[in-house]
Amino acid sequence: MAESMNTSSTDMQSEPAFVLKFAHQIQCEVHAGNGMLSHAGSLVRSLAGGVPKRAIIATDVNVRAVHGSILVASLADAGLQVLWLTIPAGEEQKTLANVVDALGRLARAGAERHDVLVALGGGVPGDLFGYVAASYMRGIRLVQVPTTLVAQVDSSIGGKVGVDLPEGKNLVGAFKHADRVIIDYTLLTTLPHDEWVAGTAEVAKHGVIADRDLFEWLEESAEGWRTHSVELGPILAAAIQVKARIVQEDERETGLRMHLNYGHTLGHALETVAGYRGLRHGEAVAWGMAMEARLASRVGLSNADFVRRQDRLLQSLGLLAPLTPLDADAVYERLFLDKKVKAGRIRWVLPGRQPGNVVVRDDLPEGVVRELIHATVEGRLLEAP
Ligand SMILES: NC(=O)c1ccc[n+]([C@@H]2O[C@H](COP(=O)([O-])OP(=O)(O)OC[C@H]3O[C@@H](n4cnc5c(N)ncnc54)[C@H](O)[C@@H]3O)[C@@H](O)[C@H]2O)c1
Ligand SMILES: [Zn+2]
Repeated sequence: MAESMNTSSTDMQSEPAFVLKFAHQIQCEVHAGNGMLSHAGSLVRSLAGGVPKRAIIATDVNVRAVHGSILVASLADAGLQVLWLTIPAGEEQKTLANVVDALGRLARAGAERHDVLVALGGGVPGDLFGYVAASYMRGIRLVQVPTTLVAQVDSSIGGKVGVDLPEGKNLVGAFKHADRVIIDYTLLTTLPHDEWVAGTAEVAKHGVIADRDLFEWLEESAEGWRTHSVELGPILAAAIQVKARIVQEDERETGLRMHLNYGHTLGHALETVAGYRGLRHGEAVAWGMAMEARLASRVGLSNADFVRRQDRLLQSLGLLAPLTPLDADAVYERLFLDKKVKAGRIRWVLPGRQPGNVVVRDDLPEGVVRELIHATVEGRLLEAP
């Protein structure tokens, strides 16, 4: 179990907020708080295994432009050499081709096993370069510095790294825990508004699956949360705790961890059919949540009150904006390429009548799912709980 989160540490660089412990003595220290990025140099220098010769900053062009200089200064102050790996921004960059390119660049630059890769950015650089760190020389040390809401409350913690295939999301990957995750809440101030809104879907998801207080807190503060005018630290800390607790209990997704996929079975199918363009991950997840709650209601696990309540929350956060046209049958077909499919059956993560817990079911009627997808892509879903 993750220790309770310390968000008011005065000695931020040396005191992790909590430490996650996994099999084979693997540990991941999470450091979270305002201004944490300027401590990155000392946090990288003091990694277990000795001082690295070189830190490879792996990021996308946008993040490099806004936050790269603070990170470089901090690493240089700590006496580390820096090498850059930079990709263009966007989900369509989460490809095997970029993995191959990055591995080649590391080899040509003479990167060594003892070097450390610092993945700076949202879930795209985090997942992609995390996979590079898992693969290069069978694994080099990894530090995650998440800069989006999605990455801070979700993707940087738990060790899932990888890339998409044109056939489906996250179909290639590995488990590679970061040695350290450095979460600086102030980096979110530069996040474009639409990215912020998309990230709130994962926070709401954490509330639905495991933390009723977090869900209700979001309901009360949705307006201020959308406009950044509430104190974010405690909500972010609560959302991070949900992720940490779940991956700590079920590192390899044999049970509980599957709950994190709420909204993702249909969300990933929407994202894939959209070609990873024009529909952000979090936006797709919000639609997935709206649809999967309706599935739960159809089979009697949830009810119309919960469906409406969750819709209201997601809409007040700025989510569930109309979708661009998508092929409903293609969305349905994609569901079967999801990693959660077992023996041809889709394992759905479904909410109950109140936020705070979910169950996994694999016996939903095909017709109901198809009808739901049609209603969604034709813009009829929100009127039909
Ligand atoms: N590994 C996991 O457990 C896990 C969990 C959740 C999501 N994910 C993955 O995460 C990805 C989505 O991540 P994302 O939403 O962070 O997308 P992203 O990494 O593409 O970032 C979104 C956009 O915001 C920009 N950006 C990032 N940080 C910024 C900042 N501080 N200021 C200004 N611009 C900034 C980026 O350049 C990009 O244009 C998906 O591929 C999803 O599958 C993985
Ligand atoms: Zn997600």
